[in-house]
Amino acid sequence: MAILVTGGAGYIGSHTCVALLEAGYRVIIADNLCRGSAKAIKRIECITGKKPAFYCLDVTDAAAVDGLFAANKIDSVLHFAGFKAVGESVAKPLLYYYNNVVGTMVLAGACQKYGVQHFVYSSSATVYGPNKVPFREDMLLLPAANPYGETKAISERILTDAAKANKGWSVVLLRYFNPLGAHESGLLGEDPAGVPSNLMPYITQVAAGKRERLYIFGGDYNTPDGTGVRDYIHVMDLAAGHVRALEKTKSSPGVHIYNLGSGVGYSVLELVRTFEQVTGIAIPYEITGRRPGDIDICYADPGKAYRELGWKAGKTLAEMCRDAWRWQQANPEGYATAE
Ligand code: UD1
Repeated sequence: MAILVTGGAGYIGSHTCVALLEAGYRVIIADNLCRGSAKAIKRIECITGKKPAFYCLDVTDAAAVDGLFAANKIDSVLHFAGFKAVGESVAKPLLYYYNNVVGTMVLAGACQKYGVQHFVYSSSATVYGPNKVPFREDMLLLPAANPYGETKAISERILTDAAKANKGWSVVLLRYFNPLGAHESGLLGEDPAGVPSNLMPYITQVAAGKRERLYIFGGDYNTPDGTGVRDYIHVMDLAAGHVRALEKTKSSPGVHIYNLGSGVGYSVLELVRTFEQVTGIAIPYEITGRRPGDIDICYADPGKAYRELGWKAGKTLAEMCRDAWRWQQANPEGYATAE
């Protein structure tokens, strides 16, 4: 029996493959490589000494997905494949709705047809919208400020309804806060195409001299230093959370929602200062206007994941900075640098 990991060549998916293989699971990766890299798959094998099976396919391609399910005994699906750039989702909403929502439906349909009952979905704290912190799983969700966030909320609803209609299904919806860092080997990390839209890849590119300065989006938020506050979580902690979630699906039918965050909020300036301390490199920055759709403050109540999964984030902000910087130094052009 194997675990199907869609988007396993991407940032969070690749790190989770390492955690799954190290926990003894057999892994099949499905990825169309439009954002992920085949080199990430080779490096998963380098780290673990185990080779995941790989299907180069698009999860919106129902015939290809059907073929994969027909050819393999799949026990569970971990669905990471999706687009995640907020700004791009505003410019190309149809692309985002199609890719993220249809992908979820095709996979859920294949699970129904082939009797696969365990499904773990990569959701996001963005579904909370501008709620009151700390965000709790039982909060009423507010509309997301962008199509990307909507695709996550819609996919959550689709999977919730599918679980209600299919006796024995267990669906875990994981609401990620802000993943940072890289595998400590420096072999896996975040490889954004073009100009990074997320904070840490931008900082590491400034540190590497690829960009002149960091632009901090807003210095007038209702936060202690005026810059936005987020709940940063090391990507390997996040990966470990998926292994726990997978174990949960084996014992508990129904729908389970968990925040995967640390429960602590840091401002943009605190993150910059920590990065500077860890690396000894100054990060020039300029405070500019707010980015549309950003909220002032976002952090998790992570208590439910601890109580029910026995999981909590263990790595510090300094470790996230250290590992992100190690990855950047070893791979100045991301996976394009790799052999
Ligand atoms: C966003 C999405 C989140 C998604 C994540 C990964 C929303 C509200 N958030 O998180 O759902 O999972 O991206 O793609 O939709 N910042 C700067 N300068 C930069 C970049 C960022 O100041 O160059 C600031 C932002 O204003 C924010 C913080 O850094 O306060 C973190 O930003 P970012 O890394 O882009 O993540 P989020 O916007 O929190």
